[in-house]
Amino acid sequence: MNIVLLGAPGAGKGTQAEKLIEAYDIAHISTGDILRASVKAGTPLGLEAKSYMDAGELVPDSVVIGLVKERLQEEDAEGGSILDGFPRTAAQAEALSSELEAMGRGIDFAIAVNVDPEVIVGRLCNRRLCKVCGYIGNVDDAVCPLCGGEMFQRDDDNPEVVRNRLDVYEKSTAPLIDYYRGAGILVEVNGELSPNEVFANIQSIIN
Ligand code: AP5
Ligand code: MG
Repeated sequence: MNIVLLGAPGAGKGTQAEKLIEAYDIAHISTGDILRASVKAGTPLGLEAKSYMDAGELVPDSVVIGLVKERLQEEDAEGGSILDGFPRTAAQAEALSSELEAMGRGIDFAIAVNVDPEVIVGRLCNRRLCKVCGYIGNVDDAVCPLCGGEMFQRDDDNPEVVRNRLDVYEKSTAPLIDYYRGAGILVEVNGELSPNEVFANIQSIIN
């Protein structure tokens, strides 16, 4: 099963992806996570990506498409994957379809998680993540509730960059909702319910 998770920054894609990989034993492919790991490791890819990410702009298609093609070949993705934050442009969507087709696979569902932009700004400015296990929490988590690790704030989670990420989303990524609707695989969920309610709605669609 291959699922594309669509939704604005802060819609809860990462939160739902974590629940999905646990329930369905499929790979979590988050281009944002891959890029952040490269920035942290100081690789040439990370050095190239950092300025785009800090400004809330998209990293070039050629870079991101190559990353996902490689990631799809990894063993844990054989049984399927959750694509979180990819595709984000029409070119990425076309590349994903061709790549999966070449592998004899397809996209089963494109799930759009819908949240009002004003809710998003608050969520992202309050988000905190665990340095150790990656748990996605918020400012109320003094330490990670799962492993006790130190929590940190992402460099791009400040009001100015969040606004730009939302603009970039509207311009480049939101049109993919119609693209997948046209392909007959779009489903939409209300992302303003609690994380568990959103997940229950996603599960009822998948099962
Ligand atoms: P990426 O890491 O993908 O960031 P994003 O799309 O901006 O999305 P986020 O990770 O910020 O939000 P999310 O939807 O995962 O929400 P989360 O679950 O964490 O990309 C970062 C950057 O990398 C991009 O700007 C770009 O530069 C680059 N990049 C990445 N992919 C790229 C691509 N394909 N092409 C080009 N460039 C690319 O939740 C957010 C907060 O809300 C948390 O605090 C969480 O606890 C809370 N929350 C979640 N669900 C709920 C709920 N239901 N109710 C209340 N609170 C909730
Ligand atoms: Mg995320």
